[in-house]
Amino acid sequence: MNLSLNLASNECKPEPLGKLTSFGLGGPAQRMFRPGSLDDLVGVLKTCRAQHLPWRLLGSGANVLVSDSGFAGAVIQLSEPEFTRVEFRDRTVFAGGAVDVPTLIHKTNLKGLAGLEVLGGIPGTVGGCIRMNAGGRFGEIGALVRRVHVLDERGRDEWIDREHVGFAYRQTGLEGRIIVGAEFELRRENPARIRERLLEVWAFKKGSQPLADFSAGCIFRNPPGESAGRLIDQAGLKGLRCGKACVSEQHANFIVAEPGAAADDVIELIRRIRERVYERYEVRLELEIEVW
Ligand code: EPU
Repeated sequence: MNLSLNLASNECKPEPLGKLTSFGLGGPAQRMFRPGSLDDLVGVLKTCRAQHLPWRLLGSGANVLVSDSGFAGAVIQLSEPEFTRVEFRDRTVFAGGAVDVPTLIHKTNLKGLAGLEVLGGIPGTVGGCIRMNAGGRFGEIGALVRRVHVLDERGRDEWIDREHVGFAYRQTGLEGRIIVGAEFELRRENPARIRERLLEVWAFKKGSQPLADFSAGCIFRNPPGESAGRLIDQAGLKGLRCGKACVSEQHANFIVAEPGAAADDVIELIRRIRERVYERYEVRLELEIEVW
């Protein structure tokens, strides 16, 4: 059955997903949808359900490694304009799920609304960053969220207040749901002071992480009370390589994909890092990124 006939505005030609991720690696999805409204998105979810198609939501691809064979199912990417809206009401900001977080930081900064600058230098969409409670030493996105607008896999929508989202270290209880938007509650502050803090956060990140390279940020979650980067570094694994993938010399929890790398190179490197860290410290490193 050719559903592109009745879903013409949503369904697009599958393309290599690598082009849509910060790793720059990976094959195409079997089907690719870019719904531009909530109704379109509900239609896509219904199609997936009716056809037993597994689906994944792709934000800006900052935390995903797509395998070389691609994804055997549907990949949904929210597209303008419904999902890129930003609206201000006093200290409350609504942002659509596909809004780019660095852009949102810039917009709120200009309005003299503080809070999001702690996420400076973190790539990703509002949906992606909330889904995994993105953050670092300066703070996490969850602390700034007032409520989240989600769709479940049947296409039913609901608003979930922050205390029911399940924000924890790099996780939430939102698996299987699509974040279509969120409200943030920010503080009023002088834009120049917010900007100053943003630059500090940025300088720290730039000084300690290989931001200009193809990577997916930190590969592993930090084990309780430890830093995965420090363990990998102390195990002597900086510079370890498989094919064209290597452990960053700047921050050991980053894997950098050099030109010509394959997703399999990264997967093999992940396996070796885990093995070596376990042999040395008896710590089992858990992935922070998603592998599709
Ligand atoms: N360290 C090393 N060698 C390394 C890397 C780090 O010895 O190669 C040491 C550092 O010197 C420091 C400690 O390990 O004493 C912690 O390092 P860092 O401050 O860089 O923080 P991290 O725990 O490695 C976390 C987040 C980052 C976030 C930074 C800064 C995780 C897995 N990582 O890294 O998030 O940017 O804090 O806020 O939670 C990401 O999630 O993708 C990410 C990059």
